Amino acid sequence: MIEVSNIYKSFTLKDKRTLKIKTIAAVQDISFSVLPGEIYGLLGPNGAGKSTTLRMIATLMSPEKGSIKVSGLSTTQHPNEVRAKLGFLATDMDVYERFTPREQLKIFGEFQGMDPESAEKRGLQLLDNLGILDFANVKMDGFSSGQRQKFNIARALLHDPQVIIFDEPTTGLDVLTAKTVLDLLINLKTQGKTIILSTHILPMVEKICSKVGIIYQGKLQTEGSPKQVMERFNSNSLDEVFFTLADSKEPKGGQ
Ligand SMILES: Nc1ncnc2c1ncn2[C@@H]1O[C@H](COP(=O)(O)OP(=O)(O)OP(=O)(O)O)[C@@H](O)[C@H]1O
Ligand SMILES: [Mg+2]
Repeated sequence: MIEVSNIYKSFTLKDKRTLKIKTIAAVQDISFSVLPGEIYGLLGPNGAGKSTTLRMIATLMSPEKGSIKVSGLSTTQHPNEVRAKLGFLATDMDVYERFTPREQLKIFGEFQGMDPESAEKRGLQLLDNLGILDFANVKMDGFSSGQRQKFNIARALLHDPQVIIFDEPTTGLDVLTAKTVLDLLINLKTQGKTIILSTHILPMVEKICSKVGIIYQGKLQTEGSPKQVMERFNSNSLDEVFFTLADSKEPKGGQ
């Protein structure tokens, strides 16, 4: 289970020309929870605060205020234990270009405390599920962005985590591959995993998410099942909900 309670996070930026300091409130008083067997879709426009929220859940950043618990453990008090329970896919994950997926999965498995053989076995199974088993022994420097994304998904799931945090999992994937990833997520959901993802692909959310939360300018604007949210906004699609919310939030007059 993921329990996010009243979290805040701001960033301080310095304008190099004017030397003025600017503070961006990236996440402001966000609360929600995700239960085992649920896929929670975190939605919102660019810069809304989705990745910042996911990074805090994944222990890569601490909230300034509020708290986050993963499987009952505080992300700030027990980061190592929390990290062992979760699989995180970021949007900016690097791979070791000079190594093959097989070699890297063995190494990442060891980082997670797995024995090399079971890490390799499970890694190869995941590469097979994702349709890149043929590339298991190929150095990654020539990999396409979609192949890298699939490898990073396999890497995130290697230790069979109970909690799965995927930031834009289908970015860069063709429709067929995206479907493979969605099927994998649905399968993990039926296994009782706790899953949160961010995405801009709203029809996919309507299909697979048990719940959605829409963030705008760092604040959670609405939450519920896709159906509930659409009904609340009197809309036939989440795209329409998005347009309605954008209309009510964006400053008018071309600013
Ligand atoms: N490390 C950082 N330093 C400074 N500002 C940051 C940092 N990370 C995020 N921000 C700012 O916080 C805000 C929220 O960013 P975030 O990456 O969480 O948005 P997002 O919803 O994931 O957007 P996108 O859909 O474009 O990925 C943005 O204004 C961003 O510029
Ligand atoms: Mg993001």
